[in-house]
Amino acid sequence: MALIELKQITVAYDQKNNILKNFNLSVEKGEFVSLLGPSGCGKTTTLRLIAGFNEAKEGQFLFDGRDYTKVPVHKRNFGFVFQGHALFPHLSVFENVAFGLKLRKTDGSQAKKRVHDILEVVNLKGFEDRYPAQLSGGQRQRVAIARSLVIQPDLLLFDEPLSSLDANLRVQMRMEIRRIQKELKVTTVYVSHDQEECFSISDKVAIMNKGVIEQLDSPQVIYKQPRTEFVARFVGFENVIHAKEAGASFSAVSTGGQETGKWAIRPDDIDISGGEAGAQQSNSSQGTVKVTTYLGREYQYVVETPLGEFIVNDGREKPYEHGERVTLLFPEEKLVPVL
Ligand SMILES: Nc1ncnc2c1ncn2[C@@H]1O[C@H](COP(=O)(O)OP(=O)(O)OP(=O)(O)O)[C@@H](O)[C@H]1O
Ligand SMILES: [Mg+2]
Repeated sequence: MALIELKQITVAYDQKNNILKNFNLSVEKGEFVSLLGPSGCGKTTTLRLIAGFNEAKEGQFLFDGRDYTKVPVHKRNFGFVFQGHALFPHLSVFENVAFGLKLRKTDGSQAKKRVHDILEVVNLKGFEDRYPAQLSGGQRQRVAIARSLVIQPDLLLFDEPLSSLDANLRVQMRMEIRRIQKELKVTTVYVSHDQEECFSISDKVAIMNKGVIEQLDSPQVIYKQPRTEFVARFVGFENVIHAKEAGASFSAVSTGGQETGKWAIRPDDIDISGGEAGAQQSNSSQGTVKVTTYLGREYQYVVETPLGEFIVNDGREKPYEHGERVTLLFPEEKLVPVL
């Protein structure tokens, strides 16, 4: 049985607009699930709903089989780090982290030990007596993370917890979060804009678009087999081919069970060659280079073809020039059918 089950949830901040619509999400016990999607798609809204700060207009939230839809925030033993991560400015680092333990009336010496242990984990030993105003953004973020972990929560909710850290610390902290999460086996729902971060840290990733989850799968599956055009584009399949336009010369068109009528392909997976010699092969098209951009290791081309424009990456040292005629080959095994 899933630990978290959101069933047909609708959330609205006003009368007209539903931010989440018939939203469904299942998370198994111990699992680390990330929500990924463009700004405004409803990630924070989802986390706030799970935490108990947003009310569902319709639908049900089951936690460990119990109906939590109307359970107030303070009765949910959830740890969270929200966007903005406000600490109590008048409390020291120690007191900030100990706050949740105090609420739970944890025995004093036990509380002290747990606060010290967790501060060690987030690399803030020696900062106990500082106040939030005396910390850097990244240090504040780590206090917020420590505060969420110290209560030994039944569920962790993280909304961009690493957004104000520099690149190195970010990578270090995300491994740290993953390590702690595995060690404590605490179920986690995580939100980040950073795709690499989500993919590296999660058991499953949910790709959200306008208040619905378009795909929930392992990072590997999302990366290799996006189900929809939206998910495909989101994870770097910048090209979509419409079967109707591709016609019979595309062998992928005739392979069975393709009702989707669309294929996605990454810029790296299209083969480009000079001239038009190869254009008679199946799965190919001739075209004209419209834009050439130097990416450092390779070049990126925008190529205009009868099938539309394609973005193609290629490592040939001497770049194809603007206006040059080229042939694009779309290897069948690289074409991913999408809805
Ligand atoms: N308190 C509120 N009142 C009215 N509308 C809101 C409120 N909070 C969020 N919204 C709207 O709900 C939608 C979803 O917002 P949400 O904060 O969930 O997005 P998000 O996916 O977390 O985006 P981001 O990646 O930018 O943090 C947005 O269109 C936002 O403007
Ligand atoms: Mg947000």
